[in-house]
Amino acid sequence: MATARQTSRGNSKVRNNKTLRIGFIGAGGIADLQLRLLAKRKDVAVTALSEVNPETLQRRQAELPDAHCYTDYKEMLKTEKLDAVSVCTPNILHMQPTIDALRAGNHVLCEKPLSMTVAEGRKMLTAAKRARKKLIIGFQYRYDPRTQYLRQAMEEGQFGNILYGRVQAMRRRGIPNWGVFGRKELQGGGPLIDIGVHVLEMTHYTMGAPTPVSASADMFTYLGNKPSGGIQSMWPNWDHETYTVEDLAVGRIRFDNGAVLHIESAFAAHVPDASQMNFQLMGDKGGATWSPTVIFTDEAGHMVNKEPAWLADTAFDKVFERKMKGFVDHVLYNKPTIAPATDGLKVQAMLNALYASADKKGKEVSIKL
Ligand SMILES: NC(=O)c1ccc[n+]([C@@H]2O[C@H](COP(=O)([O-])OP(=O)(O)OC[C@H]3O[C@@H](n4cnc5c(N)ncnc54)[C@H](O)[C@@H]3O)[C@@H](O)[C@H]2O)c1
Repeated sequence: MATARQTSRGNSKVRNNKTLRIGFIGAGGIADLQLRLLAKRKDVAVTALSEVNPETLQRRQAELPDAHCYTDYKEMLKTEKLDAVSVCTPNILHMQPTIDALRAGNHVLCEKPLSMTVAEGRKMLTAAKRARKKLIIGFQYRYDPRTQYLRQAMEEGQFGNILYGRVQAMRRRGIPNWGVFGRKELQGGGPLIDIGVHVLEMTHYTMGAPTPVSASADMFTYLGNKPSGGIQSMWPNWDHETYTVEDLAVGRIRFDNGAVLHIESAFAAHVPDASQMNFQLMGDKGGATWSPTVIFTDEAGHMVNKEPAWLADTAFDKVFERKMKGFVDHVLYNKPTIAPATDGLKVQAMLNALYASADKKGKEVSIKL
């Protein structure tokens, strides 16, 4: 593969000690959103990009004429003086590019999930420690005010002991028709690891991040491996021939504190809503739903439903913008992060155990962390 450093022009943003030089590994869909949001910041300069798809690389080069573009990320890491790298490649390419970027002296934002396996995740965390660099995981739903409200309520003890979390990440017909989201060998799985991970991780975070001890799951594939036919949907004509992931995952996780979590996640299921991302908590003192954001408890001799009178904007782009701000503020200004990559490990263990159980026809598998 030819290495293409396609421009050598300097970056137009004036660089000083408070400008973060960021390079990208992978410049597809999610990189597009990250780039648009980072472009709003005066203290960030995207100075390099690496991307193996020539058309995508060409498009990014046109959008960011001052950035140095590469087809080989290792060449980018060797040549460029960067402060941080954003890893936006398919899941199978989270571990090695992250480790390489850390070893090259960069802080890293790695998109979710952390990796394909717990063992990979551990290697990434070790590399960050050894390099003394910051490694952040792309869990943007932590930056959603609904999540922060419920997390704080949990910390205040409003739910008492949380006994049960119910997770839903369901699309009626939302099989991605781009990228490699239907290829188990490149992504590690389907909706569970792609969209389920978001709701699983924010539920787990809101439960106080208990340690998972076992998991069981069943998974079903019945639509993605067939042509989309004439059915109208948001992303028709997915690649059914390479589709090897589940359409629907249904699982159960047990934690060391006795709590239990149920998860349902689907790219395609015959359900009422086009898309439903939500969770519910039940504790011995109170419960909650994330959307609408309501706490169910007892007060003044009555059962009451409490809702925040005002929440910051929960629109996807706004929440994502806070994630990017969290990353930049952490690496540039040393502000604390609410999404350290270490938090990705328990989530990874739960995902992997759910898939392992499904491979064993739903038999409960233990999780050792
Ligand atoms: N946080 C979120 O809400 C969110 C949303 C979507 C995707 N993601 C995650 O982001 C990652 C990428 O997803 P996407 O939607 O952008 O997929 P995508 O297919 O649109 O983009 C991935 C890009 O990586 C490129 N690539 C592959 N191998 C490469 C390599 N060796 N070097 C450089 N580039 C390489 C591909 O050519 C492609 O352009 C996935 O891990 C996914 O889980 C996160």
